[in-house]
Amino acid sequence: MTDDLREAARRAADTAADHLAAVPRGPVWRPVAGPDLDWLTRQPLPAAGRPLAELLGDADRHVLPYPMGNGHPRFFGWVNSPPSAAGVVVAPLAAAMNPSCAGGEHAGVLLERTAVRWLAELAGFPHPPGAGLLTSGASMATVVALAAARQRAVPDVRETGLYGRPPLAVYLSEEGHSCLRKAVELLGLGSGHIRTVPVDDAFRMDTAALRRLVAADREAGVRPFFVAASAGTVNTGAVDPLEDVAEVARGHGLWFHVDGAYGALGVLADECRPAYAGLELADSLALDPHKWLGVPVGCGCVLFRDPSGPRAAFSLVPPYLRDDDAGELGWFSEYGPEQTRPFRALRVWATIAHLGHDGVAGLVRHTTRLARVLGAMIEGSADFDLLAPVVTSVVAFRYRPAGLDAAAVETLNEVIPAAVQRRGRAFLTGTRLRGQQALRACVLHPDTAEADLAVLLEEIRAAA
Ligand SMILES: Cc1ncc(COP(=O)(O)O)c(C=O)c1O
Repeated sequence: MTDDLREAARRAADTAADHLAAVPRGPVWRPVAGPDLDWLTRQPLPAAGRPLAELLGDADRHVLPYPMGNGHPRFFGWVNSPPSAAGVVVAPLAAAMNPSCAGGEHAGVLLERTAVRWLAELAGFPHPPGAGLLTSGASMATVVALAAARQRAVPDVRETGLYGRPPLAVYLSEEGHSCLRKAVELLGLGSGHIRTVPVDDAFRMDTAALRRLVAADREAGVRPFFVAASAGTVNTGAVDPLEDVAEVARGHGLWFHVDGAYGALGVLADECRPAYAGLELADSLALDPHKWLGVPVGCGCVLFRDPSGPRAAFSLVPPYLRDDDAGELGWFSEYGPEQTRPFRALRVWATIAHLGHDGVAGLVRHTTRLARVLGAMIEGSADFDLLAPVVTSVVAFRYRPAGLDAAAVETLNEVIPAAVQRRGRAFLTGTRLRGQQALRACVLHPDTAEADLAVLLEEIRAAA
């Protein structure tokens, strides 16, 4: 068994390295072809097992040829980065150790303390001991943050629930990510109590409108309790005026959350940094290592100013888990909903240790610079419109060739992303902005070059 494992592990390492080397030469994405589709979706449950080497052959033939595309330098879709080399290298080691990072004294738990502290330091967020944990992604980070906020607002919520209480109002920007709404619904706060705050011309939360909405709620006897700002929205990469939002939150006793899932690390680029003033004032910050940092999926993180908030919301230690040696901070499983927790920290630690602070900052600078170059190319092209200022590494735009009426432009921009994807030379996705269909390109890949941006625009024209 051990020798089989050694041989198969060596082959798997070669396969992974070969795959990563081949990705930039292949199509960014391609549809799954007939027999492989059958293999992927219709395999019967095998009665008998097969040797590891055969499984690797299967993966090589049927799995690796069909990536999502995010390893390719011309993948500009959603917010999905290529995997960091260090993350790929250490992932099998985490699997080989296979701890549960719920708690206890072992490397997985101890290294998570360092990984979280490093992330806080990179983002410029305060980090009292224990004030953060790794999660599956920002959606779960948001649930943890909102639960901590709900706990502060209603200290007996775990016993009594919210039924029959005055509603708690939640303030989200029009451009806030859908995971915020999901968290509100999941925690029983009711999406009917979300106040949607409009945005300004640059898609940043309009804080004057926020003040008005909070005042109106107070007057109506509704209790304002939580405001979420974005440090990098998914649609345009906008960073909300964080200091102003913090001031409103402070003035009205609101929990101030920042969704930095995609964009928190933008603070590392000199030209972006001023936009992030006030990030450090948040009660909670969601930040996804599996986005800009390139930690292999899935790895999110939530940071808190005060670790007692999430602990009060989640701590539940049944007798079989009691650990009198757990120390002051207790177990990670007391700070979130997960009990058995994977060893995410090894991939985070390795990725940051491999790049160093300066390497991470270099990656952020490279990608934000390219996004600005793409923005300038779009502004310089008569057939494209730039729809939002480029603040981080997202570019929101629209293809508008001469001679088409508004309805035709709308339809064209709806169908362009899928048509570009099918051509296989670039990958972008769309969204809606101010009721209009838009294209958006998010630059996250360290190997993307200016020439790739030109290909993207060519591909849009060709697909259109
Ligand atoms: C701004 C923002 N917030 C939250 C999320 C949700 O993160 P996750 O997919 O890791 O749950 C995303 C995902 O793209 C995002 O871009």
